[in-house]
Amino acid sequence: METKILQPTKDNIKLASKALKAGNLVGVPTETVYGLGANAFDSKAVASIFAAKNRPQDNPLIVHIHKNYDLSKLTSYINKTAHKLLKAFTPGPLTLVLKSNNSVSPLVSRGLDTIAIRIPSHKVAQQLLKECDLPIAAPSANISSRMSATTALSVKQELDTRLPYIIDGGASQVGIESTVVDATKDTPIILRPGIITSEQIKKVCGKVEEITKVKDNEKVASPGMKYKHYSPNCPVYIADKVAQQYRHLQSLNLQPVVLGLEKHIKNLSLDKISLGKTNKDYAKNLYQSLRIAEQNFTAIILYGLKDEKFGHSIMNRVNKIVEKL
Ligand code: TXA
Ligand code: MG
Repeated sequence: METKILQPTKDNIKLASKALKAGNLVGVPTETVYGLGANAFDSKAVASIFAAKNRPQDNPLIVHIHKNYDLSKLTSYINKTAHKLLKAFTPGPLTLVLKSNNSVSPLVSRGLDTIAIRIPSHKVAQQLLKECDLPIAAPSANISSRMSATTALSVKQELDTRLPYIIDGGASQVGIESTVVDATKDTPIILRPGIITSEQIKKVCGKVEEITKVKDNEKVASPGMKYKHYSPNCPVYIADKVAQQYRHLQSLNLQPVVLGLEKHIKNLSLDKISLGKTNKDYAKNLYQSLRIAEQNFTAIILYGLKDEKFGHSIMNRVNKIVEKL
């Protein structure tokens, strides 16, 4: 099957909605990263997401809904904490883990009694979700273990022939995946940090916890956390004595490139790609720049950020990208 990139016209949104209703996969733009969507009620369609991505079978999916969708169709109970978070941060780059009422396909939550819900703010995502009026299960639109895709073209490069349509909603503005919060108890627990930070959640709820280290084989709150993830096709090293690292990689016959904020790389006369000026720029450009780097070089040296506030969430991804030199 040829994968077509569609512009987000009314007719094309209808076409994509029909495809979803017929059990096909559609690439959906969101403000965080692109999603690979399927009707969450349709087990065959949900199974095809796992096949298309080569996704581990124990990793549950996030279900996306439009902002007027009745949440009680999907959940059995929503506590005060969840209500506060919904009010403060949705539509937006937040995913809430809530008690499921088991109405979607059992393949979505992989045996957990919860369901992860996201109400994206991206205009085109909202239009498509409204048009089909279905809960859409959608992981990031990349092959498992690769970095997420933040443009329609990157989705096509990752998953070509595995889906009929990708809707082009432009480059994702946030650039890293949503903050995932377990809101089934009184205290919200951050399962995956994102642009909505623990400081912001604490302000709204008065308290917050964050799951940090996850050991292999441990039964984890968020199964996705245990996978090494987000890797380009070439090795990536965290920047530390860059000139030396660069020469060492060259001596191994590799062609390195340095990625980092402008302030870190501006004085380097080496091959380099700027990730912009701010932490927000860094997040927005990170995955796309890794893609450009892997297409043109054979090793990557990546400057990190201060591990605080949004920088903490970005470093969560960076730590899954880099290896030790
Ligand atoms: O920004 C995003 O969240 C993007 C866009 C497309 O919405 N989606 C995304 O999906 O990043 P994915 O599948 O790549 O990551 C989903 C994460 C995984 O770590 C998974 O384990 C966790 O959410 N998750 C899903 N359902 C869960 C549940 N019921 N309980 C705990 N964690 C869950
Ligand atoms: Mg993913």
